[in-house]
Amino acid sequence: MLDHLGNTKRTHNCGELRQEHIGQKVTLMGWVNSYRDHGSLLFLHLRDREGITQVVFDGQRNEGLLQRAQDVRSEYVLSITGTCIAREEKNYNPLMTTGEIEVMADEIMILNDSQTPPFEIDNCRAGEDLRLKYRYLDLRRPEIQANFRLRHRLALAARRVLDEQGFFEIETPILTKSTPEGARDYLVPARTAPGKFFALPQSPQLFKQLLMISGYDKYFQIARCFRDEDLRADRQPEFTQIDIERSFVQPEDIFETVEPLVCEFFRIAGLSEPPRPFPRMSYNEAMNRYGIDKPDLRFGIEFVDLSDLFAESAFPVFADAVRKGGAIKAIVVPGGAKWSRKQYDEIIEHAKIYGAGGLAYIQVFESENKSALTKFIGNDGIERVIAVTGAGVGDAILMIGGRWDVACTAMGQVRLEVGRREKLIDEQANRLLWVVDFPMFEYHEEDRRWYAMHHPFTSPIDEDLGKLDGEDLGAVRAKAYDLVFNGNELGGGSIRIHRADIQSKIFRALGLSSEEAREKFGFFLDALSYGTPPHGGIALGLDRIVMIFARAKSLRDVIAFPKVASGSDLMTDSPSAVSPAQLAELRIKSLT
Ligand code: AMO
Repeated sequence: MLDHLGNTKRTHNCGELRQEHIGQKVTLMGWVNSYRDHGSLLFLHLRDREGITQVVFDGQRNEGLLQRAQDVRSEYVLSITGTCIAREEKNYNPLMTTGEIEVMADEIMILNDSQTPPFEIDNCRAGEDLRLKYRYLDLRRPEIQANFRLRHRLALAARRVLDEQGFFEIETPILTKSTPEGARDYLVPARTAPGKFFALPQSPQLFKQLLMISGYDKYFQIARCFRDEDLRADRQPEFTQIDIERSFVQPEDIFETVEPLVCEFFRIAGLSEPPRPFPRMSYNEAMNRYGIDKPDLRFGIEFVDLSDLFAESAFPVFADAVRKGGAIKAIVVPGGAKWSRKQYDEIIEHAKIYGAGGLAYIQVFESENKSALTKFIGNDGIERVIAVTGAGVGDAILMIGGRWDVACTAMGQVRLEVGRREKLIDEQANRLLWVVDFPMFEYHEEDRRWYAMHHPFTSPIDEDLGKLDGEDLGAVRAKAYDLVFNGNELGGGSIRIHRADIQSKIFRALGLSSEEAREKFGFFLDALSYGTPPHGGIALGLDRIVMIFARAKSLRDVIAFPKVASGSDLMTDSPSAVSPAQLAELRIKSLT
């Protein structure tokens, strides 16, 4: 039989009681986390959001009460009234914040029973699919609840710090116009306009720029974004950004807005604050030294450029690559000379995933170095490579040659893999970095055209404006920047174009005729013509930030009701079919 809560009031939460409460009469409410029945004594762990408290039922004091307690099972919802008592010192539990006390029960109310959960909440070993199907149970786990406490506090800090800096929080629409922004849009059919669609926003990008045109000066929003793209551990189709925009600014002003916010995140996460200003590195330098636009600076192993050395060499693959304008990138792996053939083969395969044609290596030994390159460049050539790279006895030199971007990218991934395998990453380090001066455009071989690397509203660097009319659009740099933390992109943004003439040039460079541009962004181009202030901003990925500070492995651990890799929600079983009547109302015919 279940009890009614009636007028019973909870006096404390399950994480609250300490030695100072000893002797007090208390009422706790929560879920049965676990219990141990010793016959005349029953120990029960009662859990709520704040913690776990041990409750004791003593048959010698009250046999009826003990019998009632023996009826409860895991996840029953109870109200327990009793006295807070000291545990014997030998029974202290240092793993529980309430581990020095327990509650001697005088009353038990069973407020609700529970089916046997499909997995143990305490000590859960279930696979993720099962946990996500019963997400409301999974969310009861203290480790997960800790993530949401952190998430709440970080979001609140963002609001507070930005408010202190004079920002207004303004909401922008969820039902909006489909504009190409990179990923695929989620579309929503419009009942009132058959055959037409709203799109869910990939970000509030155009709206925040419109707010600058409207004179709001400093805007932010904790904004939900939707992107129909393939999922990875650090991507969800529905995610949240701390979205920021300011007027009359240069990149430095955006950095000055964001850095105090990030420092506050560090403080809240219990980490020592990073020194300011955060370091900056150009995109080109990041690629040349680390082969990636979000370098993980928690370990060294920087690239050595061997392009000059191999330009005139007798190793045709590398010499050819340099002749065609490519590059030869090398890293030194400390202690790598003792790697087995299998280890090298695995690294070579890894490089190939990222486009490398192959990977050459030198094992540096005391007496005789080993390398397949010796037959091309001789012992002298090998010695020269060793000298330039600074490799020591026992090290290995890994080399990739090819098109500059391919050699950099593949070697960048090899560097990360070596870092992981050789355990070179300092897990305690926290390394922040602004990567700046991204290229404005990137060329896609598939359809042989240029795309905006960030988005088409990003402003080119002033001194590169002249290059917009030239042939080499790849040389145009943008006032775009990313905030990188331990090899993760926390956020990205840019100074925007505020002049219609430059905007038209960019569209032209992207192969958009003025008619096409009008059709896609007409409302926005109109707005730009009514006195647009210089402006710029950034969006920080809130989910990613929480994931990193919570040291969670996946975004799914910091999003209450996430999607799985197939893009579906296992708990609600969505997406799901809808009724023919609903489709008819929208004038939609399903082809499947
Ligand atoms: P961008 O597309 O770089 O920029 O996104 C900004 C930040 O949002 C996070 N993020 C994601 N997080 C989880 N799942 C995803 N699928 C996902 N995609 C992006 C990342 C990323 O750094 N409008 C511009 C910002 C601007 O220019 O102001 C934008 O959306 O942390």
